[in-house]
Amino acid sequence: MKLSLGNIAPNFTAETTSGTLNFYDWLGDSWGLLLSHPEDYTPVCTTELGVVANLKEEFAKRNVKAIAVSVDDIDTHLEWIKDIEDIIQGKVDFPIIADDKREIVELYGMIHRDSDENFTIRAVFIIGPDKKIRLTLTYPIAVGRNFDEILRVIDALQLNEKYQVLTPANWKQNDKVIIDPKLAADILNEKYPDGYDEIKPYLKYVKKPGK
Ligand code: BEZ
Repeated sequence: MKLSLGNIAPNFTAETTSGTLNFYDWLGDSWGLLLSHPEDYTPVCTTELGVVANLKEEFAKRNVKAIAVSVDDIDTHLEWIKDIEDIIQGKVDFPIIADDKREIVELYGMIHRDSDENFTIRAVFIIGPDKKIRLTLTYPIAVGRNFDEILRVIDALQLNEKYQVLTPANWKQNDKVIIDPKLAADILNEKYPDGYDEIKPYLKYVKKPGK
């Protein structure tokens, strides 16, 4: 299935390392981070899931729940988790879906057969509390994902959601943000009483709101 930004993320019920769950019920009103990985007991995936486990508090701060999926079965996942926990010396306590029937990876279009028909690619779906897909990333098997970027983009999406501001290229926490050019010029002084920098009529920077 081809899923685009703005589509509703499809719901499913699946067996996971945290028990059977219904995706929507499990998400509740949190943001969701759904990650596919090619195979258990592989080096890049091992490092990625270790990083996701270590970012538990960062995700919690942002009201994000992480969940991974691969086409291995539950017993393989549970054994592999022991290795990951040994490497990171910590707990993997987010769910990993056992999708050995390939239902969820097909539902989300996570197998790109022209690239490799045997493996799930490294897909990232960020899902809003309204269950809409807010961001997708597609990494190839050979390249581990950048979770600093994933946190950065969650922050940018949440700023946009809350304050209607946009983020410029290479934006980092505490950098200035961009005023939505759709806002009428005559309300800007009231909305931004501390002022803003007008570079061009369509490019105006303002201090990051909510600091
Ligand atoms: C890895 O995650 O390291 C990996 C996955 C599939 C094939 C080869 C390597």
